[in-house]
Amino acid sequence: MKQLDLTIVLAAGEGKRMKSSLPKVLHQIAGRSLVEHVIHATAPLQATELRVVVGAGSELVKVQIAQTFLEAAFILQAERNGTGHATQLALQDGPLIGTVLILAGDTPLLTAGTLQEFFDLHIDLDGDASVLTAEVPDPFGYGRIIRGNDGELERIVEERDANSLEREIDEINTGVYLFDIAALRSAVAGLEIGNSQGELYLTDVIGLMKAAGQAVNAIASKDYTETLGINDRSQLAECAAIMRDRINGAHMRDGVNIIDPTNTWIDLGVEIESDVTIHPGSVITGATKIATGAIIGPRSTLENVLVGVGTEVIESRVAGATLGAAVKVGPFSFIRPGTNLADGAKIGAYVEVKNATIGAGSKVPHLSYVGDATIGSGTNIGAATIFVNYDGVDKHETRIGNDVRIGSDTMLVAPVTVGDGAYTAAGSVITEDVPPGSIGVARAKQKNVLGWVLRKRAGSKSAESAKRAGAEDGSTKVQGEA
Ligand code: UD1
Ligand code: MG
Repeated sequence: MKQLDLTIVLAAGEGKRMKSSLPKVLHQIAGRSLVEHVIHATAPLQATELRVVVGAGSELVKVQIAQTFLEAAFILQAERNGTGHATQLALQDGPLIGTVLILAGDTPLLTAGTLQEFFDLHIDLDGDASVLTAEVPDPFGYGRIIRGNDGELERIVEERDANSLEREIDEINTGVYLFDIAALRSAVAGLEIGNSQGELYLTDVIGLMKAAGQAVNAIASKDYTETLGINDRSQLAECAAIMRDRINGAHMRDGVNIIDPTNTWIDLGVEIESDVTIHPGSVITGATKIATGAIIGPRSTLENVLVGVGTEVIESRVAGATLGAAVKVGPFSFIRPGTNLADGAKIGAYVEVKNATIGAGSKVPHLSYVGDATIGSGTNIGAATIFVNYDGVDKHETRIGNDVRIGSDTMLVAPVTVGDGAYTAAGSVITEDVPPGSIGVARAKQKNVLGWVLRKRAGSKSAESAKRAGAEDGSTKVQGEA
């Protein structure tokens, strides 16, 4: 078995056409940077060495890649003088013989399977160079594959250096190559700038090798979509859509019910069990795991969330949270990091929860903020309750026991504890602990000033209605005063 000695990933370009402050290869699709997609696809070939040529934004690119690929060595191309120049640098102090795979950091749809087939064919053909080619519906911008009368590969010509006949050719250079290392070394040494961009083109080595009588082969890929390169935002969106279809297709084959796969975006690495239903407009990212029977969406976003069996997240955003089984969230709620909802807990409409543990079967049904809190089981938090966790300097914790009834519109001014089985009266501002089994009442007592409207708003519609209801304007009695 022949083996791969070196993989070179070219990732130094700025990607001017992206018009971005972020280096092109760090733009993401499906939660992974473009260059990481490429390196992942090469991983099963198990090259002895991996070299990544970095330049534009090199520090950022290095940090991103090194997080996942500890074995990567980085070659700095300080001035971007083209893919040929990048290859020259990458070969310095490298192996003298063997096989090298070269590919660009901007073709994220390549699969490991296609690279393996390409490698196997290259080894079978026993040539000095193989170029992976593709027939594409729109070859604009790519290097074109020029074949001789015998149908054999002659050379590659770039879009901007091609004549009008050559531009008609729809077989393109995918930018993926395998070379005999010794043959490539002598070819790149002979590269010259003879093109409109004033760069050394790696693509020119094919013509040079052919002229030197070496065996160069064009190997056509089966699925052109795998070889699409990203140079601008439209191509980024196009590739993201293809990746989305791949990911959603795989989930659906595994039994996930995706109602509108064109309008559902799931990152690579998200795990979803069978019989989960995902409604349109949902975006599921990070290390999210969703257990069977869950219902997500419409329009829910989950980022790094564990979702239990049969849990529902309707029109809500959840990030960095753990949701148990049979939990209900939404519509229109925001569950932030550090939230832990036990089995059967319910978060209703217009509720924000942060850094809080909410016990089994407990409910926060309407219009509330729960921050820095622990809530026991079987507890109900009345509508519009606010956990007042911030004194302007520090955050404080609120503890609520089991089977508690917090009255509507309660302010729980932390730090504060409400014991098991306790109540709070609606509208209370609770600043002191409420012992188990008590009711905390903290609000002004009501008084009614009789006839006030008839005197102070005489002639108004309210006054007329009050009269019809039998209110007496002479009365100045106050109800509720001692
Ligand atoms: C390149 C090929 C083209 C092919 C296309 C496939 C050349 C001259 N052209 O064109 O034939 O059809 O890819 O997608 O090779 N890079 C460096 N250093 C540099 C210049 C580029 O590392 O000095 C890197 C870039 O970061 C990128 C890759 O090489 O990842 C290709 O460069 P790019 O500018 O995207 O070339 P294309 O115009 O796409
Ligand atoms: Mg490109």
